[in-house]
Amino acid sequence: MPSPDPAERTAFARGWLSQRQALGLLRAPASIGGTGWQVRVDGRVLTVLGSNDYLGLGRDPHVINAMQQEAAAMGTASTGSRTLTGNLEGHLALEEELAQWLGTESAILFGSGYAANLGVISALVGKEDHIVSDELNHASIIDGCRLSRARVTVTPHGDVEAVRAALDAIGRREAGQAPPLVVCDSLTSMEGLRAPLHKLSVACASAGALLLVDEAHTLGLYGPGGNGMCTHTGVRPDLISGSLAKSTGSVGGFAAGTAPLIEFIRQRARAYVYSAALPPPDIAAARAAVRRCQQGDDLRSAFWERDLQLRKALSDVLLPHSGRDHIHALYTFTPGRTLALQQALRDAGFLVPGIRPPTVKEGMLRLSTTADTPAAALEPLAAALAAGIATLPPNP
Ligand SMILES: Cc1ncc(COP(=O)(O)O)c(C=O)c1O
Repeated sequence: MPSPDPAERTAFARGWLSQRQALGLLRAPASIGGTGWQVRVDGRVLTVLGSNDYLGLGRDPHVINAMQQEAAAMGTASTGSRTLTGNLEGHLALEEELAQWLGTESAILFGSGYAANLGVISALVGKEDHIVSDELNHASIIDGCRLSRARVTVTPHGDVEAVRAALDAIGRREAGQAPPLVVCDSLTSMEGLRAPLHKLSVACASAGALLLVDEAHTLGLYGPGGNGMCTHTGVRPDLISGSLAKSTGSVGGFAAGTAPLIEFIRQRARAYVYSAALPPPDIAAARAAVRRCQQGDDLRSAFWERDLQLRKALSDVLLPHSGRDHIHALYTFTPGRTLALQQALRDAGFLVPGIRPPTVKEGMLRLSTTADTPAAALEPLAAALAAGIATLPPNP
């Protein structure tokens, strides 16, 4: 019998929310004042250890100026999808500049890095096709795989033998069918683990598979001119995807690769065709940030100096941790311990993301720093970690 009572119709949502609350799994992010390496939370100033604006370009005066000038000249709206309303000069220029930066023939912009993975994967492969996807891939890759309706084999993180076995099992494809797609993050976004890019590219080449690498967390930081982990490790995948909201301090996403693949994606990706284009000020900010990244050895050396300081603060902690690169995972294992350590660090002046299921299998804190964080801001971190860890409830 349909219920006329609105409270009854929302009971399922309230029930789910209170269950999540009881399990310590409700997402309740802090209200923050400001952006950058330092923010205000509940009237206190905290040092941020979870910003993806790794080079601090979101606050760079040239990037801000480029955005302001473009907003004054062009307004704030893109006015619609590029397929319908057309390509602004800035869209074409940024695509060309991204392709040049990454050493590919062509590139395509999306509204976000999430949309890029969704659009690219679901454009490339369909129901009859196969994907081999690393177990630690970002949610946008997982969702792209689901949307494609392709048959997906999930392989243990970095296990090239498992990738080879999956490709062998797929066998021969019909004429005209897409090759299998192997997809990974060059550096996983939570645990900070590298993909074995070279071995993966060899496995893909020998099986005739396409390799798509998400460089969201590595652009700007690795490779000459910050052009990413693939170049840094001498690997040329068929496609690179990424976000403009991390080292390039802006918003948007992209894919880069050979001209026919990018044109294929442009024709077919629903996240591109049926979604508004990036607005002119965001394009201008991204272009200025890409230019600064290319000339950014000074920013990269400041970043790696600060990362070394963060790594040293983590080196003596009495909890397992991972991350030989710039994303550091500190394993707390349970939601309760994750929230307790997050709060202890907040009390000591640090805003650190606590990551819980379903984003990761078990609880962890994810720590990273930025080029513009002053050395003095990280000095109290080792003591704060030791004190916070000492008060944690035992791991059952
Ligand atoms: C590896 C990876 N890919 C894609 C994305 C999505 O990027 P965006 O925030 O631009 O949607 C993220 C975001 O955290 C990410 O970590």
